[in-house]
Amino acid sequence: MSDMQTCDVVLRPCTTADLPALEAWAPTGNSRTHAMRFSHQEAGTSTYFLATCRADPDTFVGSCEIRWDGCAAPDVPRCPEINGLQVWPDVLRSQGIGTQMLRLLEQEARVHGHDSLGLGVDDSGPKRLYLRLGYVDTGHDYLDRYTLIDGSHQEHHVADPARWMMKSLGGEGPECARS
Ligand SMILES: CC(C)(COP(=O)(O)OP(=O)(O)OC[C@H]1O[C@@H](n2cnc3c(N)ncnc32)[C@H](O)[C@@H]1OP(=O)(O)O)[C@@H](O)C(=O)NCCC(=O)NCCS
Repeated sequence: MSDMQTCDVVLRPCTTADLPALEAWAPTGNSRTHAMRFSHQEAGTSTYFLATCRADPDTFVGSCEIRWDGCAAPDVPRCPEINGLQVWPDVLRSQGIGTQMLRLLEQEARVHGHDSLGLGVDDSGPKRLYLRLGYVDTGHDYLDRYTLIDGSHQEHHVADPARWMMKSLGGEGPECARS
C-alpha cells in the first residue's frame, strides 16, 4: 500500500510457494521464522495466516500464526494462541490493519470450533489494543521462550516475560479469564 488508502484486509493460509516472498518481505535471516511457522502448519498444530489488502493480493501487509494446540508454556490456560502477530512494514501500523486481522483470526478460531483465543503481551506491547477488542488480562505471567539464530549460526535462547490475555469468542465479558 503506497498511500493511506483504506486496506480491506484478507487472510489466507501460507503455502510453500509463499516462503521466498515472505522472507523478502520481512526477512528473518538464519532463524527462518516463516519456514518454522509453516512447518507447524504442515504438522497440523497451527495455521500460518498471511494478510493482504483485497485490492492488492500480491503484497503482504501482515502475518500471524494461530497455534491450535495453545501456548508452548505449559502453565498457561489452554486455548488456541495468537502468536507472532505483526503488521509490516511498520509505516502501515496504526491504520487499523492489526484490528482487522484480529477480528478475522477470531472468525477463523470460531470456524475451527473454538470458543476462546489467547495471546501473550509484554510490558511494551499493545495491551490497550487487545483490551479494546475484548481480551481480558488473566493476571497470569509466564516466560515466552523462543530461539533466534544469528548470522554466525549461533543459537540464542530467549525468555521474554509475558502476560496471558484471553477472549471469549462466544460472548462478551470477563468470564473468559476463568475458562
Ligand atoms: C501490534 C500490531 C500488530 C497492531 O497492528 P496495527 O495495524 O498497528 O493496529 P491498529 O492500527 O489496529 O491499532 C493500533 C493500536 O495499537 C497500538 N499499538 C500497536 N503497537 C503497540 C505497542 N508496541 N505498544 C503499545 N501500543 C501499540 C497503537 O498505539 C494503537 O492503539 P491506540 O489506538 O490505543 O493508540 C502492530 O503494531 C505490530 O506489528 N507491532 C509490532 C509487533 C508486535 O508488537 N506484535 C504484537 C505482539 S503481542
